[in-house]
Amino acid sequence: MSAILEANSLSKSFGAVTAAADINVGVQEGEVVGVIGANGAGKTTFINMVTGYLKPTAGTIRFRGRDITGLKPRQVVRTGICRSFQVSQLFRDLSVLENMLIALGMLREGRLSWLAPLHTAEREREARAVLARYTVESHAATQVATLPQGVRKLLDIAMATVSEPALLLLDEPTSGVAVEEKFPLMDTVMGPLQASGAACLFVEHDMEIVERYAGRVIAFYDGRILADGPTARVLADPEVRKYVIGSEIHRARVV
Ligand SMILES: Nc1ncnc2c1ncn2[C@@H]1O[C@H](COP(=O)(O)OP(=O)(O)OP(=O)(O)O)[C@@H](O)[C@H]1O
Ligand SMILES: [Mg+2]
Repeated sequence: MSAILEANSLSKSFGAVTAAADINVGVQEGEVVGVIGANGAGKTTFINMVTGYLKPTAGTIRFRGRDITGLKPRQVVRTGICRSFQVSQLFRDLSVLENMLIALGMLREGRLSWLAPLHTAEREREARAVLARYTVESHAATQVATLPQGVRKLLDIAMATVSEPALLLLDEPTSGVAVEEKFPLMDTVMGPLQASGAACLFVEHDMEIVERYAGRVIAFYDGRILADGPTARVLADPEVRKYVIGSEIHRARVV
C-alpha cells in the first residue's frame, strides 16, 4: 500500500487560538480511517485544511505525491479529494433531484451557467442512478428542507461522490441521525465507496460506528494527535479513554 494523502506538520491558528498543531497524517489507498476527538479538538479544522477551505498556518499537504497546500476548494476537488460537511450544504428550497442535477452540472461544466441546460434527459437518468445507489431515489421530488436528517446526510454524501474521488472526507456523517438509522446510513455509504476502492476518512462521535467501520483511528485532543493506529488499539488506549471517549460519554448524556 502507498500513501495517497500525506499531511506534514500541519498547524492552524486563529489569533491566539491554536486549532491544530503539528498534525502528521498519512492515508493509504483504499483505507477507512475514523477520526475521533471532543468538541473543538481540531477535527473539522484538519478537514478544512486538506480540502482547501482553510489555509494552514504551517505545514504541507501532498496528495498522490503532488503538493496541494493552499489550493482552492474547487482545485482540490479536481485532484480527487471530495468532502461532505458537518452541516450539509444543500439547496434547501430545491428538490433532491434538482440538487443532484446541480452537483452533476458543476462537475461537467466546472460552474453553473444559464447557457448550459442543467436538466437534460440524460443528466436526469444519471442523477437518478446516483440517488438510487444511495437509496434516496424515492425522495427525488421532495424539497430538501422537508427531508429527514438521514436522507439529507445521504444526499450530501452522494453529491460529494459524483466526481468519483480517490479520497472522501466525511465530517460527522451520522450527526443528528436517529440511532437506529446510523448503521444503515453507514452501510449505504460504505458499499459504493468500497466498490470504487476509494479511501475514506470520517469524523465520528459515536464509538460503535467507529468500531464497526474504521480499520484505523486517529484521536485528536486539543489540536494535536493523541493516538493513531488500529481501531481496537486506539479505542483501548488509556489516554484516549480518559480524554476522548470519556468526554464523548459525558457529551452523550448532555445532548
Ligand atoms: N474560523 C474560526 N475562527 C476562530 N476559531 C476557530 C475557527 N474555526 C475553528 N476555530 C476553533 O478551533 C478549534 C478547533 O475547532 P474545530 O471546528 O476544528 O473542532 P472539531 O474537532 O471539529 O469540533 P466539533 O466536534 O465540535 O465539530 C476550536 O477551539 C474552535 O473554536
Ligand atoms: Mg467539527
